[in-house]
Amino acid sequence: MSETKNSSLLNFVANLTGEQYLKIEEDLGQGFVRLNTSEAERRQAKHDIQSMEDIVLEMMRNSRDAGASRIFIASTKEDNLIRKVSIIDDAWGIPAELHELIFEPRVTSKLENVITDRYGIHGRGMALFSIKQVADDVELVFSTPGRGSVFRVQTSTGLLTERKDQSTYPTIKYRKGEPIIIRGPHNIIRTVLEFNLDHQDLEIYLGSPSEILATMYYLCAQDKNSDDGSKSQDYKIWRSVSQAKSAAILADVAERRLGLKVSVRNTQRIMSGRVDPLKPMLDTLSNQKERKEPERKVDLLRSEPLARRISQEDLRQLSGIISDSFRAIADKYFMELSETPEVKAEKDCLKVTIKVQSKGN
Ligand SMILES: Nc1ncnc2c1ncn2[C@@H]1O[C@H](COP(=O)(O)OP(=O)(O)OP(=O)(O)O)[C@@H](O)[C@H]1O
Ligand SMILES: [Mg+2]
Repeated sequence: MSETKNSSLLNFVANLTGEQYLKIEEDLGQGFVRLNTSEAERRQAKHDIQSMEDIVLEMMRNSRDAGASRIFIASTKEDNLIRKVSIIDDAWGIPAELHELIFEPRVTSKLENVITDRYGIHGRGMALFSIKQVADDVELVFSTPGRGSVFRVQTSTGLLTERKDQSTYPTIKYRKGEPIIIRGPHNIIRTVLEFNLDHQDLEIYLGSPSEILATMYYLCAQDKNSDDGSKSQDYKIWRSVSQAKSAAILADVAERRLGLKVSVRNTQRIMSGRVDPLKPMLDTLSNQKERKEPERKVDLLRSEPLARRISQEDLRQLSGIISDSFRAIADKYFMELSETPEVKAEKDCLKVTIKVQSKGN
């Protein structure tokens, strides 16, 4: 068959069936159709995951249900457009044969133990499939039974929304000694903190890839130095940072094994202790008061009109200096001050009023 004949036949078939046809299991008439299962799932998936915060939440629920005790979440935004998040846990891990299957709909290990938490039912085998539909990329970077899992997700913030303000820490109030989030944008920080408050046995860290790597490095060193050697003997994947003998190897391990892209310059800084490790999310609660204070002071200083920063005492001193300096000039003109000069601070200027009178008045 000639090339043109072939393509016109393809067009003919495509027009006859239409792409629409593939999505429909039954045409019920009057504009009603029954979607086939995969199309219904695809639509449901888009409804399930509507933001980057939803993705982070589903990932944490998965780690929790797989028995994690530590979860590291590295989040970064590139070019103001691309959000990259890596989630590393120390849970049971996933057998190699299932690495791809878990992203398919209705694949779950929770047949007998569906969990209901404040977010609803967990165990439909749909979350990772849904994330795959809405994210630019989602990947299981590493997972082996007994060593935990590493997931990496990438989204375009133009396509999948996220809260614009990703830096504000939620406002916490204590009721009967219990911390409660009372205000703040529903950003990634709040999503993680809220989850952690519900599951206080979990140690969750949230920060940039460098901060997360520094924290892992620090925790390994701390365990090595502690008397309890058993901790450093588990083979959880995040501990692979402790084997890196050079900054270049650490950067390589971080990227290939942990889904953390950190420059060699930064791994050098991490190895020489120049990047502070993160505190567990729950510990940041008690730090809020101390942490917020200096930030607020700087902000106040920035928003306060410039000239108003000068104290009354300094303004009085300036008035004295003007008074002394002006005396010599006034003499030349047979004048004198009728009262002490007034120095008033306005927004970004100082207004000086010097009242004069003829000498000997
Ligand atoms: N961090 C993890 N550690 C171990 N296993 C995991 C992890 N994340 C996902 N899995 C496995 O992948 C399966 C599919 O996960 P997915 O989130 O898609 O569905 P689910 O958790 O079973 O149900 P739901 O759709 O309600 O979230 C899980 O049932 C679990 O077996
Ligand atoms: Mg899940």
